[in-house]
Amino acid sequence: MDFWVFDSSMHGTIFTLLKRYVQTQYDHSTWIRLVEAAGISGLDFDHKHVYPDEHMYALVGHAAEMTGIPAAELQEKFGEYLVPDLLYMYQKLMDPGWRTLEMLEHTEKVMHKRVREEHEDNAPPVLDVRRVAPDEVVVEYVSKRRMGALAVGIVRGLATYFDEADRIEVTPTTREDGEHVHIRVRRLA
Ligand code: HEM
Repeated sequence: MDFWVFDSSMHGTIFTLLKRYVQTQYDHSTWIRLVEAAGISGLDFDHKHVYPDEHMYALVGHAAEMTGIPAAELQEKFGEYLVPDLLYMYQKLMDPGWRTLEMLEHTEKVMHKRVREEHEDNAPPVLDVRRVAPDEVVVEYVSKRRMGALAVGIVRGLATYFDEADRIEVTPTTREDGEHVHIRVRRLA
């Protein structure tokens, strides 16, 4: 067993959105084949429960196999897709003046903090976000789940959400599959 595998679970919202993503990008039968391949057919996901991380790894791994798209790329696409729903769920915590960089600066102490308070099993990644220049932040993602590619996708999704996709440059400066991933995010003039 890999040293980083541990008994942990993930918010059902992430699973239900993954299901919807597969159903809309592909179709329902693809989702059925995917849960079968992942060995979890019969299990339905809902947003009120948490599910083992291993199910997420298995779903992403088999999705990569079935589509021929690398797992990191799939995670990025899924991360982009997640954003509008995540923001909708937590919109009360948002300040209308925030744009991509400000949202990133507040995710840890506002959004992920609330997620942790909601359920003792929730364990969103720790995001250390520093404004290193007026138009640049560095996001340091720390999680044993090694889903930095999802983080990169979420940042891209935020840029699209705030209508800044053409001005926001997202550059991972480390490998995306580590426990510590650095992502540089610049707003171009
Ligand atoms: C802006 C509003 C955000 C909300 C409401 C939000 C909410 C959540 C929730 C509910 C989870 C599931 C946690 C669990 O099951 O334990 C999660 C996980 C995650 N979040 Fe966020 N998040 C936000 C922003 C971000 C941002 C900006 C990033 C990256 C830069 C990010 C990266 C991740 C990743 C990669 C995970 C997957 C779990 C892991 O890697 O450990 N999130 N988030």
